[in-house]
Amino acid sequence: MSLTQNNNNTKIKRIAVLTSGGDAPGMNAAIRAVVLAATANNFEVIGFYHGYNGLINNEHCVLSNNDVHDIIHLGGTILKSARCPELCTKNGQLKAVETLKINNIDALVVIGGDGSFKGLQAIAEYWSGQVIGIPGTIDNDVDGTDFTIGFSTAVNTAIDAIDKIRDTANAFDRVFVVELMGRHSGHITFNVGISCAAEQVISFENFQVQQKQAILSTLAENIKQAIQYKHRSYLIVIAENLWPNGSQAFANELTKISGIDATLCTLGYIQRGGSPVAKDRILATKMGVAAIQAINAQETNMMIGEQNNAMVLVLLSEAVQHQKQVSQSLVDAQQNILAMTAQTET
Ligand code: ADP
Ligand code: F6P
Ligand code: MG
Repeated sequence: MSLTQNNNNTKIKRIAVLTSGGDAPGMNAAIRAVVLAATANNFEVIGFYHGYNGLINNEHCVLSNNDVHDIIHLGGTILKSARCPELCTKNGQLKAVETLKINNIDALVVIGGDGSFKGLQAIAEYWSGQVIGIPGTIDNDVDGTDFTIGFSTAVNTAIDAIDKIRDTANAFDRVFVVELMGRHSGHITFNVGISCAAEQVISFENFQVQQKQAILSTLAENIKQAIQYKHRSYLIVIAENLWPNGSQAFANELTKISGIDATLCTLGYIQRGGSPVAKDRILATKMGVAAIQAINAQETNMMIGEQNNAMVLVLLSEAVQHQKQVSQSLVDAQQNILAMTAQTET
């Protein structure tokens, strides 16, 4: 369907859109695409502010093409985002539904992660309008789509930062531990670790707490080799929320066992901000248009995904059932490159 095709679905008149959960670069590009595609179909678009809080408190605005004409390059989200614990309660869900009814909303598009889609499913329990999800989170942990909006930008931002850390690490033959985001999954950590030629990647996919002491001992030996004999820097990337008592504890334990200072650098929220890279702008544009197409086709309880370069509809229930895993080929690639380095250098 082209953007200029007229809406032949006379029933649908008002679409609501909101952004929820951790903001991600490209959310604005998705809002823009939703508004442009909806307007082209003669739908009116209402934006709700601050994630599901805006639904619960009826805080909204009308969105026209004019409101979105210069936002594709902006990080964050013009609609604001939030976590909204109240939506996890029946009372909160009923309040949200009441707002949708008062405003005569026919379809709700939510741009967010798996948690946001659970919220959307909860609303659908009490509301007969159409609900469509667009996956937007830097974590890339949503099942049913090859990529989520924001992931590529976050990875590139982290690479840019770590390349700089490597410069200063090289200058002093120093050990750095860089903590990366990704609440419960290592998509960012593995992709960034490989891209920055990190000497070690420690993430949910290759770490078990019983191996803690063995990992520290091996690292200590490798660090001594690198720093004392080869006069090189040593970079470890580690996923947030992984090491017992946190990444600072990891750096301290490593320093103690190796006798060489390991400095922690937590990249943190820098990974969530900034102008989206082309890949996220394009993905968001395709997904926003596909969301309106889905509404036009009377679809509901669906997430828009991209699989093998094609837009697909995935049941929300399937998208939230499992967290998307880091591909084994990526974990193997890191393992193999380390093994090859060790083999050729000893
Ligand atoms: P993300 O959408 O990025 O995964 P969260 O997990 O924080 O981020 O979820 C965002 C919001 O979605 C929550 O603050 C809450 O409002 C809503 N939400 C999450 N889980 C549920 C749930 N089980 N039931 C209802 N709403 C939920
Ligand atoms: O889900 C995106 C994310 O940035 C995660 O990578 C991170 O663990 C979390 O959000 C941080 O959440 P908050 O903004 O609530 O501190
Ligand atoms: Mg999530």
